[in-house]
Amino acid sequence: MDLGRRTPEDTERLAFAEMTVDDLDDMAALLGDADVMRYYPRAKDRAEALGWIRWNQDLYQREGFGLWTIRLRETGEFVGDCGLTPQEVDGTIDIEVGYHVRGDLQGHGYATEAAIACRDHARDRLGVERLIAIVHPDNTPSQRVAEKIGLRFERATTSRSGLPVRVYAARLA
Ligand SMILES: CC(C)(COP(=O)(O)OP(=O)(O)OC[C@H]1O[C@@H](n2cnc3c(N)ncnc32)[C@H](O)[C@@H]1OP(=O)(O)O)[C@@H](O)C(=O)NCCC(=O)NCCS
Repeated sequence: MDLGRRTPEDTERLAFAEMTVDDLDDMAALLGDADVMRYYPRAKDRAEALGWIRWNQDLYQREGFGLWTIRLRETGEFVGDCGLTPQEVDGTIDIEVGYHVRGDLQGHGYATEAAIACRDHARDRLGVERLIAIVHPDNTPSQRVAEKIGLRFERATTSRSGLPVRVYAARLA
């Protein structure tokens, strides 16, 4: 075991890596896809995708975690991102597990597989005691991923950007 490892352990099919500018084409395609971003205020353009990468690089520096790229171990093909970010809901900051999977690769269990590794990394390496997911009420796939990794519906509220959200949560410790 590599005690200095800053990303979650690889899973059966997926490898995690810190995002870099070299991922811009992949991240811009992912976050620019209106379907992938249907529960966000809008899809992101290339400059905003670069901002997303910078935001995560800043998180790696400041917090030691963030959203990581996920790629198929076998081929290196880009699948999406998954990871941990501090998020404020109703005035309280918690660690959220988040995930985005390329439209053509959804429904193969990748988000669940990656989110399990992130949950375990949060608990075992980072000592996170409470993990949440903030999900749009209509986003059934995301709610299923949250439930499948052990998070339970906690409450309905409004996000900082004014959207209705459901908070899923679990005690990890
Ligand atoms: C949420 C998301 C990451 C799930 O990725 P995924 O790799 O397809 O997820 P999994 O294959 O692990 O499947 C998780 C569950 O969602 C279900 N699911 C997947 N696609 C679905 C769809 N289009 N409609 C309904 N359910 C769906 C799966 O059946 C599974 O549930 P089950 O075990 O009860 O069958 C993906 O849909 C996505 O990227 N969505 C857009 C971005 C997003 O909304 N992210 C979350 C923000 S809170």
